[in-house]
Amino acid sequence: MQDKVVVVIGATGGIGAAVTQKLLSKGAKLVLAARDSQKLNALVSGLDASEKHKIITVTCDITNPSQVESLMEKAIANFGKIDVLINAAGAGILKQYNHLTPEDLDAMLNVNLKGSFYTCQSAAKYMKEQKSGHICNIIGILGKHSMAMASAYCAAKFGVVGFSKCMADELKRFGIKFTLFYFGGVDTPFWDTISLKVDRTKMLSAQTAAEAILFALSAEPQAVPMEINIQPESHLFF
Ligand SMILES: NC(=O)c1ccc[n+]([C@@H]2O[C@H](COP(=O)([O-])OP(=O)(O)OC[C@H]3O[C@@H](n4cnc5c(N)ncnc54)[C@H](OP(=O)(O)O)[C@@H]3O)[C@@H](O)[C@H]2O)c1
Repeated sequence: MQDKVVVVIGATGGIGAAVTQKLLSKGAKLVLAARDSQKLNALVSGLDASEKHKIITVTCDITNPSQVESLMEKAIANFGKIDVLINAAGAGILKQYNHLTPEDLDAMLNVNLKGSFYTCQSAAKYMKEQKSGHICNIIGILGKHSMAMASAYCAAKFGVVGFSKCMADELKRFGIKFTLFYFGGVDTPFWDTISLKVDRTKMLSAQTAAEAILFALSAEPQAVPMEINIQPESHLFF
C-alpha cells in the first residue's frame, strides 16, 4: 500500500477507523471523510504523528452529490490520483416494516444506497482516466440475506449490490476492480442507536473487518477478490 492514495469514507466509524490505522501503517496516503469535523480531528490526533503529512481530512455528507464531487477534487488536488475508494459510511434503522416512516425509508436510501452510488460514480471518473482503481463497498450480509426488522436497510443494501455489479461490468475494461464485503454483525458504534436486542460480544471485531479489507487490497494485480463474506460463528448464513 506504500504511497497508494486511499479515500476512506466513514473514516470515523468503527470499521473506517480500524482500516485507516492499518492503511497508515502500510504507507498509504489517506483522504479521510465523514460529516463531523470534530470526530475527524480526534481520529487524526490519535494517529502516528510522523505520518500526518500523508493525511487530509474532508467533511462530506455523501447524500449531497456536490459535496462528494468536492471531496474527490480535494483528493486529486492534494495527491494527484485516487487508487482506492473505501465506502465505509452508513447507518442503520431496524424496525418492523409497518413502523417505518417515509423519513426512515428516505434516510436509509439516501445514505446507504444513493450516497454510495455518488461516491463510486465520482471516484470512478478519476480512476477511469488513470486506467486503474479499486472500489471497496462495505455492504454487510444484509445486502444478500434478509432479516426481520431490516426491510428499509436491506432495500438499500441490496441496491448497493445491484449497482456495484453493474458498475464493475462497465468499468473492468478500465482496470477498475470492485470488492463487495458482506460482514455479519461488527461491534461498532453503528449499534449504539439501534434498539434491537443483539449480543455485541458475539459480533466480529472492527479489526477483523479491517484485515479483510487489507487482504483484498493486497491481492496481486491480476487478482480480483470479488466478494468477501465473514460471519460471526454464532450467526452463520450459507
Ligand atoms: N457494524 C456492523 O454490524 C456492520 C456490518 C456490516 C456492514 N456494515 C456497514 O459498514 C459500514 C460502516 O459501518 P460501521 O459499523 O463502521 O458504522 P459506524 O461505526 O456507525 O460508522 C459510520 C460512519 O459513517 C459516517 N457517516 C454516516 N452518515 C454519513 C453521511 N451521510 N455522509 C458521510 N459519512 C457518513 C459516520 O460519520 P459521521 O456521522 O460523522 O458522518 C461514521 O464515520 C456501514 O455502511 C454499515 O452499514 C456494518
